[in-house]
Amino acid sequence: MLSRPRRNRKSSAVRKLVRETSLSPGDLIYPLFLHDGVEDVPIASMPGCHRWSLDGLMREVESAHRVGIGAVVLFPAIPAELKTKGAEEAWNDAGLVPRAIQRLKREFPEVAVITDIALDPYNSDGHDGLVAPDGRILNDETVGVLCRQALCHARAGADIVAPSDMMDGRVAAIREALDNADFTSVSILSYAAKYASAYYGPFRGALDSAPKSGDKKTYQMDPANAREALREADLDEAEGADILLVKPAGPYLDIISLIANRSTLPIAAYQVSGEYLMIKSAAAAGWLDERSVVLESLLGIRRAGADMILTYFAKDIAPCLGA
Ligand code: PBG
Repeated sequence: MLSRPRRNRKSSAVRKLVRETSLSPGDLIYPLFLHDGVEDVPIASMPGCHRWSLDGLMREVESAHRVGIGAVVLFPAIPAELKTKGAEEAWNDAGLVPRAIQRLKREFPEVAVITDIALDPYNSDGHDGLVAPDGRILNDETVGVLCRQALCHARAGADIVAPSDMMDGRVAAIREALDNADFTSVSILSYAAKYASAYYGPFRGALDSAPKSGDKKTYQMDPANAREALREADLDEAEGADILLVKPAGPYLDIISLIANRSTLPIAAYQVSGEYLMIKSAAAAGWLDERSVVLESLLGIRRAGADMILTYFAKDIAPCLGA
């Protein structure tokens, strides 16, 4: 027989030599929830995750950093009394996120701090954009507010801002606002292809950020579309994005692959709350082996073309990965 592919699988050492895809802690970004309280509160809809106090956040980042995680992304839970139609709290320099950024950069200067740019935690409507009286999500007005939010995070010391709102034109506007304020080295990780996905359900429970009315289908993408993702990716790249993100990850591996083959920018993928929960709950029932399935799911996302992965498993899985 001329060709016996099994020869390349005959031992662990040989398998390592021919392995095409690697996974290491440096590929992972750890999403963290925070709130303005003194307790670390377990999140019922996402077992294993917490709403961290600022002190708890520091402890969690320290232990994640110790196992090789070099980047975190922050998601704030904002109390209902601070949520307004105009989402003013989103650019309050004394707000929760700016305070968390400042402390993180002081205590862990080498950890990259990424912040979410979108209005849903701050907006009494629970939408990523401003909502008109007739229920429409206002695009250009929202972009102005997102720029204020990005500048607020940059002033506090954020390394990377990550617009997840899916408004048109926001990457160019944020880039210009940052540059005009001399934040030329603050990066933009843009959610280029973010789908209107049911897999975000547990996250919205974690932050009480579900839309009060309507859904997000007029700004997030239709799960049926792939070519449209390329259009979004092209636009974000042309507007100055530094990294392009696809979200969710597992059900959209084809999109990751398409964009990775098209763009020379680094690609990120977000293994979202619903993907996390499916693995967690099956493992808790004894139906799946958590560690093996997490490794396989992350490897699959890397194999599809993602350079980096946002995953709630980051801290737990890092010790199982090569450096
Ligand atoms: C909103 C935002 C969402 C997630 C991250 N940022 C939810 C949404 O778009 O409704 C979801 C993340 C997850 O499900 O893990 N800006």
